[in-house]
Amino acid sequence: MLGNFSYENPTKLYFGEDALENLAGELAKYGKNVQLIYGGGSIKKNGIYDKVVAILKENGKNIFEDAGVMPNPTVEKLYEGVKIARDNKVDLLLAVGGGSCCDYAKAVSVSVNCKEDPWEKYYLKFEEPTCETLPVGCVLTMVGTGSEMNAGAVITNHEQKMKIGHVFADAKIMPKFTILNPKFTYTLPKNQMIAGIYDIFNHICEQYFSGEDDNTSDYISEGLMRGLIHSSRIAVENPEDYEARSNIMWTATWALNTLVAKGKSTDWMVHMIGQAVGAYTDATHGMTLAAVSLPYYRYIMPYGLAKFVRFAKEVWKIDAAGKNGEQIAKEGLSAMESWMKELGLVMNITELGANAEMIAGITEATIVLPGGYKVLEKDEIAEILKQSL
Ligand code: NZQ
Ligand code: ZN
Repeated sequence: MLGNFSYENPTKLYFGEDALENLAGELAKYGKNVQLIYGGGSIKKNGIYDKVVAILKENGKNIFEDAGVMPNPTVEKLYEGVKIARDNKVDLLLAVGGGSCCDYAKAVSVSVNCKEDPWEKYYLKFEEPTCETLPVGCVLTMVGTGSEMNAGAVITNHEQKMKIGHVFADAKIMPKFTILNPKFTYTLPKNQMIAGIYDIFNHICEQYFSGEDDNTSDYISEGLMRGLIHSSRIAVENPEDYEARSNIMWTATWALNTLVAKGKSTDWMVHMIGQAVGAYTDATHGMTLAAVSLPYYRYIMPYGLAKFVRFAKEVWKIDAAGKNGEQIAKEGLSAMESWMKELGLVMNITELGANAEMIAGITEATIVLPGGYKVLEKDEIAEILKQSL
């Protein structure tokens, strides 16, 4: 049964091959000073930088460059971005890149006019902004996180060995607009493309594996998962298949723009464990999730057996005839494992740079959330991590 909820998503999306044509219209809504946020240079190689800069110039904007946003943006980089925004009285934060750039732009947005230390306030104390925020716009080049249409911002603190995501409660932290051109993702290396695909899949799982009620969100999730599995197989064979890449892009947005969480409790423990692995290894986000997922799901399966049976039947089309629930559920997870291997995902944390000596620390760094089928104790997390080595 659905509980009480409100639903609001103010991000305006422009989707398709011609989506960038809408940037000028959006820029007209904001002041002259634009902080152009991007990563390590992929947008310079594939020409997206030139296109965006030309539009900014044509529209009379002053451009303040904020380059070098790393995958898993750090707290030090956040301080740097806040300084650029303050020094130049920036009116709009324009992120051109993947989830790291979008997340970072949101973190800068809530920090520019904030007197407290943003790491303390937003990531250790999980407070909400009490200051004016800056508008954020995104031109997405990497698909997976859903950051283009949500209020999440993940920041890593290497010194404290913590990677923490804050999903801000106020919808005004979401990007004001996002440009989604599937062709902008064609130049992604295969490992990033598949990491993004698994990130999408896992976002859906995190919201699906909870509750025992009959809930519209779960039916939507099953459809999203089936479509994603189908399109991923095409994209891995032919990365320039526009239909597949556009379906993947659109699925990513719906997987984490708050819709499929409505009326549900949610799990998010794969992300919590994966983020702790990320804090220790700085590994690619989607790969950290892939590496811990199966040990986690196999561990919690008995506590949510009915849902795992449904997952096997509805998502993986496992033939249930003559089998008991446990057999069906296990076959579903095996089918998922085969698909993950077919994509070429990293299936263990050792390959990501983790080792047995790190397990105690990673366990400690894992935030335990209560929404899934089993609230994990620390020794259970350590066991799941051991299984993931
Ligand atoms: O830095 P550049 O040179 O641009 O290269 C990037 C980066 O190395 C490259 N790339 C991006 N677009 C490209 C491209 N290379 C070639 N062609 C293109 N078109 O891809 C690499 C990864 O980019 P990144 O933005 O780091 O990836 P992703 O989109 O997966 O973002 C990861 C971050 O988002 C957080 C993660 O924890 C991580 O910090 N997340 C944010 C969430 C949210 N806001 O809700 C939820 C997620 O669960 C996730 O935690
Ligand atoms: Zn994720």
